[in-house]
Amino acid sequence: MNDFVGYESRNGVGIITINNPPVNALGQGVRAGLVSCLEAGLADDSVNSLVLIGGGRTFPAGADITEFGKPLKAPDLRAVIVAYENSSKLVVAAIHGHALGGGLEIAFGCDYRIGDAKCNVGLPEVTLGILPGAGGTQRLPRLIDPSAALDLILSGAFVAAPKALKLGILDKVAETDLLEAAIEYAGELISSGAPRRRIRDMEINADAKIFDEARATAKKRARGFEAPLKCIQAVENAATMSFDDGLREERVLFEELVSSDQSKGQRYMFFAEREVAKIPDIPRDTPLRDISSVGIIGAGTMGGGIAMNFANAGIPVVFVETTQEALDRGLGIIKDNYAATVSRGRLTQDAMDSRMALFSGSLDFSALSDVDMVIEAVFENMALKKEIFQKLDKVCKPGAILATNTSTLDIDEIAAETGRPEDVIGMHFFSPANVMRLLEIVRAEKTGKDIVATVMKLSKKIRKVSAVVGVCDGFVGNRMLHGYMDQAMSLLEEGALPQQIDKALFDWGWAMGPFAVMDLAGNDVSWLIRQEQAPDRDRNLPYPHTIADQLCEQGRFGQKASKGWYLYSEGSRKPEIDPDVDALVLKVSAGKGITRRDISDQEIVQRCMYALANVGADLLDEGIALRAGDIDVIYNAGYGFPRYRGGPMLYADMVGLDNMLASINQFREDFGPLWRPSKYLEKLVAEGKTFSGT
Ligand code: CAA
Repeated sequence: MNDFVGYESRNGVGIITINNPPVNALGQGVRAGLVSCLEAGLADDSVNSLVLIGGGRTFPAGADITEFGKPLKAPDLRAVIVAYENSSKLVVAAIHGHALGGGLEIAFGCDYRIGDAKCNVGLPEVTLGILPGAGGTQRLPRLIDPSAALDLILSGAFVAAPKALKLGILDKVAETDLLEAAIEYAGELISSGAPRRRIRDMEINADAKIFDEARATAKKRARGFEAPLKCIQAVENAATMSFDDGLREERVLFEELVSSDQSKGQRYMFFAEREVAKIPDIPRDTPLRDISSVGIIGAGTMGGGIAMNFANAGIPVVFVETTQEALDRGLGIIKDNYAATVSRGRLTQDAMDSRMALFSGSLDFSALSDVDMVIEAVFENMALKKEIFQKLDKVCKPGAILATNTSTLDIDEIAAETGRPEDVIGMHFFSPANVMRLLEIVRAEKTGKDIVATVMKLSKKIRKVSAVVGVCDGFVGNRMLHGYMDQAMSLLEEGALPQQIDKALFDWGWAMGPFAVMDLAGNDVSWLIRQEQAPDRDRNLPYPHTIADQLCEQGRFGQKASKGWYLYSEGSRKPEIDPDVDALVLKVSAGKGITRRDISDQEIVQRCMYALANVGADLLDEGIALRAGDIDVIYNAGYGFPRYRGGPMLYADMVGLDNMLASINQFREDFGPLWRPSKYLEKLVAEGKTFSGT
């Protein structure tokens, strides 16, 4: 018994309660308390069975992740589980909230498991780049069907009580108060003479082919990730080795993973994703505004995608468009999108109908007079946006949030068109907005704290990963991408071809290479922006986009035109190399008097990645991004950055900021003034610090 775990007895049953808020993580104090309370229960002659339960909101949600990578203090979690498994008195685990990772593994050390109707169980270790290292890979495939166990371990999914009962992870679901039900259950088990149940003694029969199939799938779906393959190995060991040998091997595989850079990256992302929701000058208890209805101006691709997020969360949406035709077209596209989901069996027709019923439309701004929030989603034109915000200022009720979905324009300037700049905010969705997880919440100079807090909360409701950023051209994600794209384009002119650059970055872990991405997004989009920005361009800097411009002059706008940096066959999204593009690349290089050279994949990765992180450093310096972790969350959720490398800023830390700075200085000498080391990077190197503080 200690501060973290308590013991008491009731009705002949010993109750061991864990109290380590917020999630009862199994830190050293909890582990020690679990052992001493078990000893107390075994020594207590007034009880003949034990119940293990979490205090507060949950059963343990896993090992304490902050302890990983540090010397482990006894007792080790595995020893705790073995102690429960070898207990001379029957033990029932009583689960509410979440029993995850090491938490569920402790429950596997108990004889029986009862959960309340709302509990969830799971082994999410794979998402942290590790495997269930306290016997989970050996016990779960003995307790339930090995194929289902493998799926659960590989997906890291949370399983709700009814399914957990069906799978056999839970033995019973409590209809009443969990502790009372667990005490009663323990009593029943004893009085009925129920057998002790050590999972380690259970038989396992797995078909060998499930492991080969799982490996083939993991190589495709989790390309580049090490943990899934080791999870499969560990579960296969459970089927082919004795329990003790399998457990020993599980530890070896766990140790390899927990000390890997991949796991460091994935653990860092776990905390970065929680940190991103905390805004230093906005207290958690900031009063929020109620958002029960939303207006969207523009029912085009972006407006329609944004609207679907709200309908999915049960929030009604009023569209305002300029013509009935545009309105009908927008609603038609939404309907087709939902219908496609229904036909794939991922949405019921009823659910689709009730979502469609949440949309209404108007050609008149007065339809927005009563909504709690408006999101403007028209094309990027400052004059038009200013006109819209002037109208909104007139028609919207006091307290309504006025948001713009601009991706480039100055929100301070837009807000100044209203008499209520404190109610104006940017919500930068990424296309397709109903699919992409990322939302940049752009806090303008005068945006109210309660507005930021409300939009943060709302973003959770519409299932977005959001980060608060400041106003600048491109905000965080796209501004960084400019640096990255400049390098991809320069590399083309110097000697590489699109397919080589794409392959180097894809093999490194990006979901897609930069040229494939541009073909997907539409090459005309960045072409138009370049044309608009041409008058302000610094003529002393090299211009690496000549090839991209000439491609667009030929109408090669990407997938939608069936040709861009690649060719696309009718109805296919598979890029095919086009010799005409290669010829254009060579022609432009020759035209600029560049002698092409062989460029290594390593140089491609270094130059693109360092350019990305170097702009990231500027954004931190300017306060546009609050933390390195926020940038990494943005790149993970919105740009296909490989999670097992953390994000661009953590990657730079891992390379070593001094190494990166030395390379950037060398690049400046070799390739000219497009390279300029960030002052903030220089400062951190001088102080011996890192971006992430790790
Ligand atoms: N270790 C340390 N801290 C943890 C933690 C853990 N396992 N799980 C959550 N926390 C912290 C969070 O960082 C957060 O801290 P702050 O308030 O300071 O930001 C706090 O607990 C609350 O967490 P959430 O904000 O995530 O709360 P939520 O209610 O949204 O979600 C949850 C709760 C579903 C349990 C979620 O926290 C979660 O998924 N936790 C991680 C579960 C996990 O991965 N477990 C496996 C651990 S590895 C393991 O157990 C290895 C093994 O085999 C031995």
